[in-house]
Amino acid sequence: MKSITTLGEFIIQRQKDFPYAKGELSRLFSAIRLAAKVVNSQINKAGLVDNIMGSMGQENVQGEEQKKLDVYANDLFIKSLMARNEVCGIASEEEDSYISFSDEVGRSGKYIILMDPLDGSSNIDVNVSIGTIFAIYRRISPVGTEATLDDFLQPGTEQVAAGYVIFGSSTMLVYSTGNGVNGFTFDPTVGVFYLSHPDMTIPDEGKIYSINEGNYSYFSEEVKAYIDYCKQPDPATNRPYSGRYIGSLVADFHRNLLKGGIYMYPGSSKAPNGKLRLLYESNPLALLVEQAGGKASDGHQRILEIVPTELHQRAPLFIGSTSMVEQVERLLKGDRGQTA
Ligand code: AHG
Ligand code: MN
Ligand code: MN
Repeated sequence: MKSITTLGEFIIQRQKDFPYAKGELSRLFSAIRLAAKVVNSQINKAGLVDNIMGSMGQENVQGEEQKKLDVYANDLFIKSLMARNEVCGIASEEEDSYISFSDEVGRSGKYIILMDPLDGSSNIDVNVSIGTIFAIYRRISPVGTEATLDDFLQPGTEQVAAGYVIFGSSTMLVYSTGNGVNGFTFDPTVGVFYLSHPDMTIPDEGKIYSINEGNYSYFSEEVKAYIDYCKQPDPATNRPYSGRYIGSLVADFHRNLLKGGIYMYPGSSKAPNGKLRLLYESNPLALLVEQAGGKASDGHQRILEIVPTELHQRAPLFIGSTSMVEQVERLLKGDRGQTA
């Protein structure tokens, strides 16, 4: 019988991968695991539970309409992480600024977490996959003091762990501590995440491109050239590719991780830096994709090497199969010879 490993057992087995004191990663992930289960149970009842769908009737700091489940997931992850005494601060898409824990236990936390508590909010009310994205860093301010903004403005290369939960046809948790990528599927009958996708790797080539083509007329000529390249018939390079765009970054990313492909949210004349937030959307997924053998860039530089200056800063994102990301980077450099 195939051995079945739970997320908790896997973390203990792999504790040596986490170069810090024993148990810290386990406690961090037990908070994430618990919150994921509770959010999952609410999502599965959305529509039945009269108060969990729809809008809060307010906007977040990004000027985006907050859904009730955005706020519910946000509050739940914060409460769950606070209770584990490992984090000294949390930053979230749904919070204007970072939250630092001023009590003695909170100040003794060695980690900070940045998160998108619910990614793909526009899909909540129409029963399409959504997710949670998180990034974990060691603090750089002294243990025993309150977290500072600098703790949160570290480049993505400094992440000690990153991952996502996808609430889809099944609920999965996918994460990396810098030693490969592993996926765990939630069994709701027993309330346990089981290792279902060990050592995930992204195919170097893919046939899927994900982009909101509704913005085509606002893209640069180079981005338009790549979109046109994806559509040009060429059996030798498996084109035309298939267009797939779910509107939930986590879901588009997860599909491309398994099948190969590229997800793009470029800058445009409407939004020069695109829409996605560097710290809690692009950086965590960039760590995962690189650990899986793929690539993530803003079109010109490695996402993980961007030095952040603001908590909610946005950056263009091109992420997925290495050969596809490199293809679009060549085009963005004006190397038109590559569209032949
Ligand atoms: P969030 O729901 O956390 O704000 O993220 C939504 C993001 C991402 O999940 C998705 O790929 C993208 O926004 C869709 O944006 P467009 O509707 O502009 O294509
Ligand atoms: Mn998001
Ligand atoms: Mn969100």
